[in-house]
Amino acid sequence: MALSSAPGKVYLFGEHAVVYGEPAVPCAIERRARVGVQRRDDGKLRVHAEDLSLDGFTVEYDGSTGNGPDVDVSESLLSAAMGYVDGAIEQVRDVTGEDEVGFDVTIESDIPLGAGLGSSAAVVVAAIDAATRELGVTLETAELAERAYRTEHMVQDGQASRADTFCSATGGAVRVEGDDCRSLEAPDLPIVIGFDGGAGDTGQLVAGVRDLRDEYDFAADTVGAIGDVVRNGEEALANGDVEELGRLMNFNHGLLSALGVSSRSLDTMVWAARDAGAHGAKLTGAGGGGCIVALDPTPETETALSFTPGCEDAFRAELTENGVTSLE
Ligand code: PMV
Repeated sequence: MALSSAPGKVYLFGEHAVVYGEPAVPCAIERRARVGVQRRDDGKLRVHAEDLSLDGFTVEYDGSTGNGPDVDVSESLLSAAMGYVDGAIEQVRDVTGEDEVGFDVTIESDIPLGAGLGSSAAVVVAAIDAATRELGVTLETAELAERAYRTEHMVQDGQASRADTFCSATGGAVRVEGDDCRSLEAPDLPIVIGFDGGAGDTGQLVAGVRDLRDEYDFAADTVGAIGDVVRNGEEALANGDVEELGRLMNFNHGLLSALGVSSRSLDTMVWAARDAGAHGAKLTGAGGGGCIVALDPTPETETALSFTPGCEDAFRAELTENGVTSLE
């Protein structure tokens, strides 16, 4: 049995625009997915998942028989989670040359699913790391990140950047522009997260931005403007200027909102954070529902969010330098 964990992330800047070659700066947070993998010689893939949402649920899924699970969670979310595990195992078979190998896979995660915190990337990164090690193969971090990216790219029908998977594999704050991925120095950021209990459909949201960008030059310019915000954000990060980071996050949220990927609950939480005195706040990830990220060194934002209608959970999240980690 091999066991690995990998962190989720928030986007400080640049989601959606990164799909069109602009830079993005995600940053890993201390909320992790843990994946245990045991080899099976009958070629079957069995997945046991727990706590894939903050409420938690348990599912047994037999990938070889297609027996549906019986759980209280939306079908599409669940099949998405299982699709990521199937895809990760396909990469493992490919990179190790063990085409017929099967696995028992156990997933435990404290990252809400599909909510902009990189739950799928964390599961994929930890699954590939654990499964390859279970077969006696240790991948370099760059190779692991690349294989995890290919998994997301395949599962999301070609609509994925390298941002989530690279960040989860390496930990820390990173900068991703096309296939150029690197780590950044970052100060300890006072990150607060608000979660509306929901999830967005990444594929649909990405397609919506693509259509707008194709139809209107000003939408293409908006995507380009996000790139400019990111470049300014990198400088603020390097200078440890948290106030400037917040201002730029506010700007980034406005541009994402113009592209149609915010929602009433995300906007409500963003404004609650700003009213509570946060340096800045924005949605994180694909949007449509899920999480916002705010910067506030005081307890005010977390408290205000926990009383905000539509905010199901508010919590602080430490930036973590620990990317994928082998647990045994
Ligand atoms: O919601 P998440 O954490 O899967 O992030 C999606 C980010 C996008 O830029 C919209 C898509 C991508 O793959 O970069």
